[in-house]
Amino acid sequence: MIFKNLIQANLRTEYLGKDIEYYQIIDSTNKEAKSIIKNNEATHGMMIITDNQKNGKGRLNNEWFMGPGKGLAMSIIYLKTLSIKKATLIPLASGLAIAKTLENRGFKPKLKWPNDIILNNKKVGGILCESEIKKNIINSFIIGVGLNVNETVNDFPKELQDKATSLFIETNNSFQRELISAIITTFLERSIQNFDSIMDEWLSFCAHLDKKVTFHYRDKEYSGVFKGINSKGHAQIETAGKVLQFPSIYLK
Ligand code: BTN
Repeated sequence: MIFKNLIQANLRTEYLGKDIEYYQIIDSTNKEAKSIIKNNEATHGMMIITDNQKNGKGRLNNEWFMGPGKGLAMSIIYLKTLSIKKATLIPLASGLAIAKTLENRGFKPKLKWPNDIILNNKKVGGILCESEIKKNIINSFIIGVGLNVNETVNDFPKELQDKATSLFIETNNSFQRELISAIITTFLERSIQNFDSIMDEWLSFCAHLDKKVTFHYRDKEYSGVFKGINSKGHAQIETAGKVLQFPSIYLK
């Protein structure tokens, strides 16, 4: 069970999360957000949150696992028009908001491009942003946030057990998901209001700046040195003496 009023009592925002739709069980909060937008029932800043996401979507067509009653799965709907330039920064701003939340709770999080949230070299959270673009203008933007909160190792499917972690696994303490969700949403609104500092702040949490990374691109494996992010939010990687820009790759 997730209590909407507990999220709202802890929010320090002007518009994000003022309207909350809670579902005890749902396929995917991003999918639900899309249908709410399509039916003209969405409000700017609306949050869709569930206690049990059965069919979570991850980046690059992956699935996203959430421990029923234990993880955090929420989507925030941004309805103001956005230039493509600003919209490319929102996924980074979202990862940054989670990193700051975890730091605020005493963790030492790292970010892996574009927005995997890492604790102790394992993935604790991820972001899936989906948008509707018409004539180079973004009309709606969905920010999907997945965070492993109170899951134990055995709650994860076998294939994830050595790659994923949760706040509980790292500390042996349980965390109130409503509070975590409210802090993420508050940091997210602040980051969105401060587009100019997103890049530098993101890099300050980066797990692999100036380090060797291995990645998949067009079905091949490459390696290079991660040099930063360009103004479009693309990864800049130095391979064979040249710095190349990659819009979408999978960093190992
Ligand atoms: C990733 O692959 O790292 C991104 C994971 C994003 C998962 C979240 S959970 C809430 C929202 N609804 C979904 O179906 N996916 C996102």
